[in-house]
Amino acid sequence: MKRYHLTTFGCQMNEHDSERMKGMLESLGYSEAPERSEADVILFNTCSIRETADRRFISHLGEAKRLKREQPERVIGVGGCWAQSLKDEVFARFPFVDVAFGPGQVNRLAEFLTSDSLTAQGYFEFEGFTGHLPARRERTFQGWLQISVGCNCACSYCIVPSTRGREVSRPPQELVAEVQAMAADGVREVTLLGQNVNSYGRDLPRGDGERPGFASLLGMLDEIEGIERIRYTSPHPKDMREDVIRAHSELQSVCEHIHLPLQSGSSRILKAMRRTYDRERYLSRVAMIREHVPDVALTTDIIVGFPGESEEDFQQTLDVVEQVSYDSAFTFVFSPRRGTEAAEIGEGIVAHPVKVERMERLVEAVQRHAKERAQRFVGRTVEVLVEGTSRTDPDRLRGRTRHNKVVNFAGLAAPGELTDVEILSATSQTLRGEERLLARTAV
Ligand code: 5AD
Ligand code: SF4
Repeated sequence: MKRYHLTTFGCQMNEHDSERMKGMLESLGYSEAPERSEADVILFNTCSIRETADRRFISHLGEAKRLKREQPERVIGVGGCWAQSLKDEVFARFPFVDVAFGPGQVNRLAEFLTSDSLTAQGYFEFEGFTGHLPARRERTFQGWLQISVGCNCACSYCIVPSTRGREVSRPPQELVAEVQAMAADGVREVTLLGQNVNSYGRDLPRGDGERPGFASLLGMLDEIEGIERIRYTSPHPKDMREDVIRAHSELQSVCEHIHLPLQSGSSRILKAMRRTYDRERYLSRVAMIREHVPDVALTTDIIVGFPGESEEDFQQTLDVVEQVSYDSAFTFVFSPRRGTEAAEIGEGIVAHPVKVERMERLVEAVQRHAKERAQRFVGRTVEVLVEGTSRTDPDRLRGRTRHNKVVNFAGLAAPGELTDVEILSATSQTLRGEERLLARTAV
């Protein structure tokens, strides 16, 4: 039996695509090799969001090159956003690569592997959703649902519109059927994926009635028996409407967590980023969220050092962080990406030490708030979906709350079970607790 090895970089959409890639390979009779050196087909699902993602991948590719030299009949395949963004150069720069394909062309990998082709092949036109391919889920009780691909935004720093193309939504009936099948398979938590989930449906035909929007999709999925939790990522603040916010308080399965990427707290920088909202609009969305879902966990993405960001602009970002008090935030130093508008801006590039110093101040504020916010869970008993054993302590279990907080706890529940955990302490990153049953038997 032939064996494959797949390494995944990047976002949850790539994790989803990799599960589909694995499902497809296994339906072709391949099995997974534990080590890259043992594989007949070495695959990478790549990301290009920041320079660091490129660099990490290139070092892995070096090892694949060496393995190919040792055993030339090995196949090296590169899929995903990095491959798509370098489609014209991949084979010239990396001649040992046999097959390269963009995120909309995963199905072509099967075609390549089953053909007798001896020449390198590249596939880069969007052809279909990876969601149509069979999946091999990492965890049997958690599933991804690709609701759309592509992005119609033009954020000036972002490479994604050029790697994933225009937005295309999948019809709601198809998504409902897929989640019903997942539920029948034992999935309890579904995460809806799209580059901009809350513009879902705008490209679909109107049909007889209303075009289905993101909120109505949430409503349809909430009704499916067996699905206890629905999450999604990522929404765009410009499209965050009241109906979606209300879904978090009205629909039982939609979790109390919203990831709302801020990027910058300065309206001037937001304009240069082409985010199409300003600071006030963002803060008014947050106020609406807090009004409908008071206990919500809010998380975000922030970029520091965008070209032209002044100390005053940065202060505005810090000020939003202080006002909103996020449960957690991903912070990034601006990274110029090939072909993007922001990469072309020559002036006002923020000096490296200034970026580093701003990042330190930002991380301090983010962590302080995350720690403070997490304290509200101490003393509460919360529902946890058990994911496995704690990474730091093999005697404890690890799971996630509806607020998407990781909990390490003493208990007996099995992976995939929902159980009640009493929270005893909290840091900025994780909660610590005891399963309720244990606590009861102890008294
Ligand atoms: N430089 C730095 N961070 C970026 N992101 C996207 N593009 C860039 C870039 N060129 C960040 C944004 C986005 C997250 C996924 O990655 O914050 O929300
Ligand atoms: Fe990376 Fe963005 Fe592509 Fe995801 S969509 S793999 S984050 S470049």
